[in-house]
Amino acid sequence: MKTRKLGELSVSALGLGCMGMSHAYGPSADESSAIATLHRAVELGVTLFDTAEVYGPYKNEVLVGKALRPHRDRVVIATKFGFRIDPARPSDQMIAGTDGRPENVRAVAEASLRRLGTDVIDLYYQHRVDPDVPIEDTVGAMADLVRQGKVKALGLSEASAATIRRAHAVHPIAAVQSEYSLWTRDPEENGVLETCRELGIGFVPFSPLGRGMLTGALKALDGLASDDFRRSLPRFQAENFDANLYLVRLLERMAEEKGVTPAQLALAWVLAQGDFIVPIPGASKIPHLEQNVAAVEVTLSTQDVAAIGELLAPAKVAGARYSEKMTKMSGR
Ligand SMILES: NC(=O)c1ccc[n+]([C@@H]2O[C@H](COP(=O)([O-])OP(=O)(O)OC[C@H]3O[C@@H](n4cnc5c(N)ncnc54)[C@H](OP(=O)(O)O)[C@@H]3O)[C@@H](O)[C@H]2O)c1
Repeated sequence: MKTRKLGELSVSALGLGCMGMSHAYGPSADESSAIATLHRAVELGVTLFDTAEVYGPYKNEVLVGKALRPHRDRVVIATKFGFRIDPARPSDQMIAGTDGRPENVRAVAEASLRRLGTDVIDLYYQHRVDPDVPIEDTVGAMADLVRQGKVKALGLSEASAATIRRAHAVHPIAAVQSEYSLWTRDPEENGVLETCRELGIGFVPFSPLGRGMLTGALKALDGLASDDFRRSLPRFQAENFDANLYLVRLLERMAEEKGVTPAQLALAWVLAQGDFIVPIPGASKIPHLEQNVAAVEVTLSTQDVAAIGELLAPAKVAGARYSEKMTKMSGR
C-alpha cells in the first residue's frame, strides 16, 4: 500500500470511512461483518480509519475501537467532535447545532477515548466550525489535548480557507476533511485545496464516491431505506436523480474502456489531484473495500484526468450536495 502524509502523520494513500457501518445509509451493518471488513482493511494495508462521535451516535466509535484494538499500534484512528447531539430525536433531526466550546472539546475527547478503548486519538477533528466560538478558542483547547498526550494531531472538517489559516496559526493543522469528488468540486473553487497545499496540510476528501452514486451501483431511489440520509439530499430527489444517473452511465462507459470499475475511476481521479490528498471511501462490504483499495494502483494520464473531470463538470450535476440547513453549517 502506498503512503501519504497528513501533516506529520504517515497514512495509507486511501483510508476507510466507517460511518456507513452504523449511520446514515439505512440499517447498520451487523457487527461481525463490519468487523470482518475492518480487519480485511488492515490486511490490505489500510492504516487510516475515520469515525466520529455523531456516527450512530456513539456506536460507530465503539465498533471501530473494538475491531482495531488488536491492531492498535499499526493504525491511525481519526474521530470528530463538534455537534450538539440529541440522541432522543429521529436520526435525521438528531443534530441540534454545533458546539465548539473548549469544555465540549475536552468532554468529547474523554468520551471518545473511552468508546474507542484507547489512550490516544491519532487525529481529532472539529466536525463543523461553531460560529459562536472563536476558532482560536476551540483549537486552543484541542492543542491542550495534544500537550496532554491525549491527541496526536488536529483536523478541521468543512472549514473555510480563512478559518483554516486562523486555526493553523494557533496549532499546526494536520488535515482538513471536506466533501470532494467528481461531482462535488467545492474545495477547488473556495480556496480550501489551495490553502492546504500552501500550508502543508493534508486534505481528506469525504464521500469521494458521491455517497455511493459514482459507483454505478445505485440505479433507483426506491432501493434506499426510508430513513436513508440520502433521501434528504437534493441530488437524490427524483427530479435530479435521473439526470445524475445519466452522468454516471457516462462514467461507467469510460471505466469499462479502461478496464476498471466506476468506483475505481472516481477514486483514481481524486488521488490524482495531489499527493497531499487521502480519500476515505466508505465501505461496509469486503468486495467494495477490496475494489476501492485497488484504485490506488490505477494510473491516469493528464488527459484521462481532464476527460473524467469533464464528464461530471459542476455545471452538469443536478442539485446541491446538501440541504439548505446543512449548507449553512459548512464553509464557516
Ligand atoms: N466530515 C464529514 O462531515 C463527513 C460527512 C460524510 C462522510 N464522512 C466520512 O467519509 C466517509 C466516506 O463517505 P460516505 O460513506 O458518505 O460516502 P462514499 O464513500 O462516497 O460512498 C459510500 C457508499 O458507497 C458504497 N460503496 C463503496 N464502495 C463501493 C463499490 N466499490 N461498489 C459499490 N458500492 C460501493 C458503500 O456501500 P457499502 O457500505 O454497502 O459497502 C456506501 O453506501 C464516511 O464513512 C465518513 O467516515 C465525513
